[in-house]
Amino acid sequence: MKVGVLTGGGDCPGLNAVIRAIIRKGIIRYGYVVYGIYQGWKGLMKEGLVRPLDLDDTSGILPKGGTILRTSRTNPFKVDGGPEKVLENLKKNNIQALIAIGGDDTLSVAAKLFELGVKVVGVPKTIDNDIWGTDRTFGFDTAVNIATDAIDRLHTTAESHNRVMVIEVMGRHAGWIAIESGLAGGADMILIPERPADLEKVCMLIKRRHERGKDFSIVVAAEGTKVKTPEHPEGMVITQDGSVDEFGHVRLGGIGNYVAQEIEKRLGYESRVVILGHIQRGGSPTAFDRNLGTRYGLFAIDLVHQGKFGYFAALKGSDIVGVPLADMAGKTRTVDDEFYEMAEVFFG
Ligand code: F6P
Repeated sequence: MKVGVLTGGGDCPGLNAVIRAIIRKGIIRYGYVVYGIYQGWKGLMKEGLVRPLDLDDTSGILPKGGTILRTSRTNPFKVDGGPEKVLENLKKNNIQALIAIGGDDTLSVAAKLFELGVKVVGVPKTIDNDIWGTDRTFGFDTAVNIATDAIDRLHTTAESHNRVMVIEVMGRHAGWIAIESGLAGGADMILIPERPADLEKVCMLIKRRHERGKDFSIVVAAEGTKVKTPEHPEGMVITQDGSVDEFGHVRLGGIGNYVAQEIEKRLGYESRVVILGHIQRGGSPTAFDRNLGTRYGLFAIDLVHQGKFGYFAALKGSDIVGVPLADMAGKTRTVDDEFYEMAEVFFG
């Protein structure tokens, strides 16, 4: 059997571990021919982006960040004749089964293609950890560790200069990276998209801390955090330029600057902002992400072997299980109130 593999959406540490596991088990255990589809769904819309992979392709890739298959944020359902092109290319290349490794966008496309008859399974990838139906996506642990290291480093410079340091982290509309790195790094305030920020309250808590004799503070702000204003009591989203990608996502960013400026203006404490950006997605995956990615890859090729299409590999507790792709489409896994209230104990 010919099995195609693609990686879609933003890259993420651990992608190569998944690819390596699929190739090795697919070829050695099941005798499949594995094809790499390059640049995500774009690879099935254009000619020349499908190539066979062999065991040599897996050599040395486990600790490497990024994806050997490259990626893109292409949505075939937003292109005229896109789905037809995908079906045609799968047929032309004689690919009988497909493994799509990606976030909610990539997996939602996989869910729609499954309805059109494509034999597809999914693997949940994203540093944001926001895919419904799984306890963890691979890449998240690496991002949290990078952000925690950054928070540790910011502590020493913040303390030396008596400053408020605001660190903006990724996560789109979920605050997982912010809350887990903020907790691990001992942040004095954590702002997440799930809880629109009341800057009055934020400043009150920071002031309380400084009046207790602390001359510096660390604020972690998730990029999707909304800010309450008189005009937007439900919270205003801060975006870079309002532009959207093929999946309709705006480019988030700017909350860090906004919060730092407000703190300086309202409290007079010297403030600086650090935008961690794509550093969170770059470089070598942690051992946890390498192993989670490996387990997901092995499970995905097993799903193919069992003919269990229309599912994605998910972590439930310590087990990997199959969850229907149709169940996750259009949903986001967000931080619940209980988790945030636990973190609040350490604010201010
Ligand atoms: O979904 C992963 C993610 O890293 C988000 O956290 C972030 O908002 C977005 O991708 C950034 O996308 P891009 O790589 O297109 O700048």
